[in-house]
Amino acid sequence: MDEMDDFLAVLEEKELKDGTMKLVSVDGIPILLIKQSGQIFAIDNRCPHQGCGFSGGVLDGFVIICPCHDWRFDLKTGEYDKEPAIKLTMYDWIIKDGKIWVKLED
Ligand code: FES
Repeated sequence: MDEMDDFLAVLEEKELKDGTMKLVSVDGIPILLIKQSGQIFAIDNRCPHQGCGFSGGVLDGFVIICPCHDWRFDLKTGEYDKEPAIKLTMYDWIIKDGKIWVKLED
């Protein structure tokens, strides 16, 4: 057994095109995979404000904008721009065997 035990394969890497988002569900948790400028992010799709799905929102560079009330979160830090203490839930991920694997537990 190795550290891979904590990771679950969620998507073929080639299915995540640059500048786009893909919503997957892992153990009932909606996870939004985002690729921007070659960097991958895996976030909980539910907005920390009132739970709206980021998958219906807009990607603006390294910022994800919630579709419900336009809160803007920085993907690199996870922070809401007006109140940095409010953060996205972000998941660790790795690429192995051509797939993106996400780790649910901290
Ligand atoms: S639910 Fe996302 S900004 Fe309100």
